[in-house]
Amino acid sequence: MSFPAKRLRRLRTSAKMRNLVQETMLTPNDLICPIFVQEDLKSRIKIESMSEMERLPLDDLNDEVGTISDLGISAIMLFGIPTKKDDSGTSAFDENGIVQKAISQIRSNFDEKIVIMADVCLCQYTSSGHCGIINENKIDNDSSIETLAKIAVSQAKAGVDTVSPSAMMDGQVTAIRKALDDEGFTDVSIMSHSAKHRSSFYSPFRDAAECAPKFGDRKTYQVPFTNAREAMREVETDINEGVDIVMIKPALSYLDLIAETKRRFNVPVAAYSVSGEYALVKGASAQGWINEKDITEEILYSIKRAGADMIVTYFAKSAAKFLQES
Ligand code: PBG
Repeated sequence: MSFPAKRLRRLRTSAKMRNLVQETMLTPNDLICPIFVQEDLKSRIKIESMSEMERLPLDDLNDEVGTISDLGISAIMLFGIPTKKDDSGTSAFDENGIVQKAISQIRSNFDEKIVIMADVCLCQYTSSGHCGIINENKIDNDSSIETLAKIAVSQAKAGVDTVSPSAMMDGQVTAIRKALDDEGFTDVSIMSHSAKHRSSFYSPFRDAAECAPKFGDRKTYQVPFTNAREAMREVETDINEGVDIVMIKPALSYLDLIAETKRRFNVPVAAYSVSGEYALVKGASAQGWINEKDITEEILYSIKRAGADMIVTYFAKSAAKFLQES
């Protein structure tokens, strides 16, 4: 018998053979495209820290969603940037708020052509820049979840398909589910940022959405990046509270947690490839040190291989383009 007997290279001999044995698939259907929409904006503005990402005025939204939908992308994730901030984050649940207007505009123009998801959080809307309401210099969990529930209901009234709480408050899924059901929105689903870690990978986003905390940090509510079992408890708690889709965030440094969530639980798993992951690729490719398309492809496939069923990514449009072409 010739040596070696086991030749794994046999299945790599041609492109067709490699296609045949490919284990992980990625299609535009798997992608969720974030959109930043800003109140009182006249024309698009570039986000410095996130090259090629822009803040959009309401008037540009139909064009943008049309492009995203034509690329075969399944869903959008809306983030609002309001003109006014206050202590209670009032503009987040205003029926005429920027996100509510965006949702109803997209709903009436695109109906079921795209899944409309919206971020449910307070940090863009509070003067403190924190994801909850401040009480005696602390982020007050229980009054914050009441407000998050109000935000979710206001988005449901506007026609959202899925609300996506990202505040990392305890009991946020319970509070939102109850409020939605009480108002008759039993079909509005919840994709919670279940295990959202305290991460330096969010810095470019804070510039994009003007939501940096004015004091302190988010360590009292976001999950420490050192704790995998704690992340699993967060996921499990959300499932017990009736979440529809769980999320691990960020993605690339957290592939172990995506895999573990997929292995342990039976709910759909989303991964959020965040602004810092995007910025690393953009920065290095702008220098010519890496090939943006090849790296993006490898990163997105690796997130799917780890077990993500869907990926929120700022590469959604560019990835959908190369996936359609390949
Ligand atoms: C805040 C929020 C953040 C992100 C999404 N929602 C920032 C934070 O927690 O500081 C980050 C997303 C990204 O970096 O792409 N609710």
